[in-house]
Amino acid sequence: MKFVRFIMKNAALASVPKHIEHFSKFSPSPLSMKQFLDFGSINACEKTSFVFLRQELPVRLSNIMKEINLLPNKLLTTASVQTVQSWYIQSLMEILEFLDKNPDDFKVLGEFVDALVTIRNRHNDVVPTMAQGIIEYKEAFPQDLVTNQNIQYFLDRFYMSRISIRMLINQHTLIFDGTLNPLHPNIIGSIEPQCEVGDVVQDAFHSAKMLCDQYYLRSPDLILQEMCSKKKKNLPMSIVYVPSHLYHMLFELFKNAMRATIETHDNSNTLPPIHVRVSLGDEDMSIKVSDKGGGVPFRRIENLFSYMFSTAPAPQMGERTRPPLAGFGYGLPISRLYAQYFQGDLQLYSMEGHGTDAVIYLKALSTDSIERLPVYNKTALKNYKVSQEVDDWCIPSREPLDLSVYKVPK
Ligand SMILES: Nc1ncnc2c1ncn2[C@@H]1O[C@H](COP(=O)(O)OP(=O)(O)OP(=O)(O)O)[C@@H](O)[C@H]1O
Ligand SMILES: [Mg+2]
Repeated sequence: MKFVRFIMKNAALASVPKHIEHFSKFSPSPLSMKQFLDFGSINACEKTSFVFLRQELPVRLSNIMKEINLLPNKLLTTASVQTVQSWYIQSLMEILEFLDKNPDDFKVLGEFVDALVTIRNRHNDVVPTMAQGIIEYKEAFPQDLVTNQNIQYFLDRFYMSRISIRMLINQHTLIFDGTLNPLHPNIIGSIEPQCEVGDVVQDAFHSAKMLCDQYYLRSPDLILQEMCSKKKKNLPMSIVYVPSHLYHMLFELFKNAMRATIETHDNSNTLPPIHVRVSLGDEDMSIKVSDKGGGVPFRRIENLFSYMFSTAPAPQMGERTRPPLAGFGYGLPISRLYAQYFQGDLQLYSMEGHGTDAVIYLKALSTDSIERLPVYNKTALKNYKVSQEVDDWCIPSREPLDLSVYKVPK
């Protein structure tokens, strides 16, 4: 019996590349916030969601698995990246088993929810494992600009794909596991139809403050201002959003702002507060987090979103007690992805010597909040094939120009 299972597993494994090839030919189908809500509304149909997901999840997985294969070989072959790849293969195989099952069978629907939970748990550690692969690669090989750009391009797409896959899995499992969330009866899966931004700001600030107090024995205060336009006088301000995503972004921004504030004012008895302004317009919901933590030189801003760069020491794998206010250096890039996932953005405006403003832009209207998903196609392929080209801007010389060579003989 064991032998038969072994043979069957190997046969399934051997057919994986064929399935990846097949499903990667489809483009992922981005869902709007409204579609997510409809899937989870009173008439929620588990069968429809199941039939959609057993096709859409393999499409999203296969699209990104094609891109994993385009990573530089030296990175692809690290133990960490191999582990991540094996998780993706395993999860793809598990979903494919449902392709020929009967959607009218309740048992099948129940098994599908269980399979999704197993997959979600399997992928819990993808970010630190991938980060470990990057660290190993960085230590072993000299970095060049093109490889750095490729890795940045890949990881932004890879993590965005992961956010989207987890969103689909969370919605299905939370809505169809048969239990209601008694604390949040209005929440649909993980979406809050009236997500009060001010409350999320307070929650995220409170958590960051506790960490900061533990580590530095003090922390700055919060000043929160909700600014409404003349047209929209209704406070508190709310949008249709995933509160856990917003919380994630704000928590990361607050940790950074607190760390910068304390390290810049370590000789002072008082700390300047962190100022948050929330504004709701016709198109945008903007949240600005301002600190007086000394700022960052303009030249370095782009680097702060780079996965290959962090000023904090790299945490050890398996270490459960990460440095509380700084870890892999993924706080900003991953937060930006969360903002971009529903067509928003996250930008930093800094004044070196003074402080930093971080602004989260979200879509005010749920009809504008549509998933932003990577697709594997010729353009993506071309982006991995960029070669090191000569700069088309002059490189300034450090030596003073020797004007004597221009001297006209008298
Ligand atoms: N408000 C800020 N003021 C000054 N420097 C900042 C600010 N926000 C970020 N930085 C700088 O940007 C770097 C990158 O920030 P990021 O949040 O991405 O990573 P990290 O804080 O180092 O680690 P992690 O967030 O993963 O725990 C920080 O290490 C810090 O040097
Ligand atoms: Mg951080």
